[in-house]
Amino acid sequence: MLNLIIKQQFRIAVQDILIKTNRLKIRELKISDLSDFHLYRSNPEVTKYQGFDVMTMSETEDFINCNSLKQFGKPGEWVQYGIENMETGQLIGDCAIKLALHDSRIAEIGITISHLEQKKGYAKETLLGILKFLFTKMDIHRVVEIVDTENTASISLLKSIGFRLEGHFIENIFFKGKWGSEFQFAMLRRHWEECKTISYR
Ligand SMILES: CC(C)(COP(=O)(O)OP(=O)(O)OC[C@H]1O[C@@H](n2cnc3c(N)ncnc32)[C@H](O)[C@@H]1OP(=O)(O)O)[C@@H](O)C(=O)NCCC(=O)NCCS
Repeated sequence: MLNLIIKQQFRIAVQDILIKTNRLKIRELKISDLSDFHLYRSNPEVTKYQGFDVMTMSETEDFINCNSLKQFGKPGEWVQYGIENMETGQLIGDCAIKLALHDSRIAEIGITISHLEQKKGYAKETLLGILKFLFTKMDIHRVVEIVDTENTASISLLKSIGFRLEGHFIENIFFKGKWGSEFQFAMLRRHWEECKTISYR
């Protein structure tokens, strides 16, 4: 009963989510993003540690169309958002948020930055924007990210923001032809609030 009430708390159309940071806009993925999105989603280096594989142009188009029908706040469903460079208007990556099926006060996140735009601080800026949105606007209690243990870029990113390493799962996932191991990182709202004095916020 409690879960049912939580699950019915809110639903926001993907088009109605807009998060702005200094340089970036996190907003709906649009069909006009197709070629920028496909450029990095078709790169095997970018998808190497991710749960999805490289996409053809038509798969990319179907993905964007299907995503535009989704709603933020539906437990158990990943919803993807574009990351736009506000100065150029160009899509430089995307991020995803999923609220847990058993309790929608817990969110899981993921992020991808185009191979042409990495190491410019964009992922960090995006995640800080998402954390602020989830903790202050959406009343989320806990944010989780699960990463491949070989994904050093992602591990550095999470550590640099202050995510806590909670778990190390050994060969827990059969992934792209072999068994892979994963780390679970998490951040609680109270931990995020305690660290508010840190300059990057
Ligand atoms: C992980 C990823 C999102 C990082 O994006 P990015 O925009 O390059 O990261 P940033 O520039 O914001 O860097 C954030 C921190 O991570 C560190 N970092 C980034 N790439 C790194 C790398 N390849 N090796 C080591 N550290 C790295 C940066 O030094 C920075 O730390 P600092 O603030 O302490 O200096 C990007 O590499 C990516 O999209 N990878 C492919 C997709 C993927 O695997 N996503 C994660 C799975 S959900």
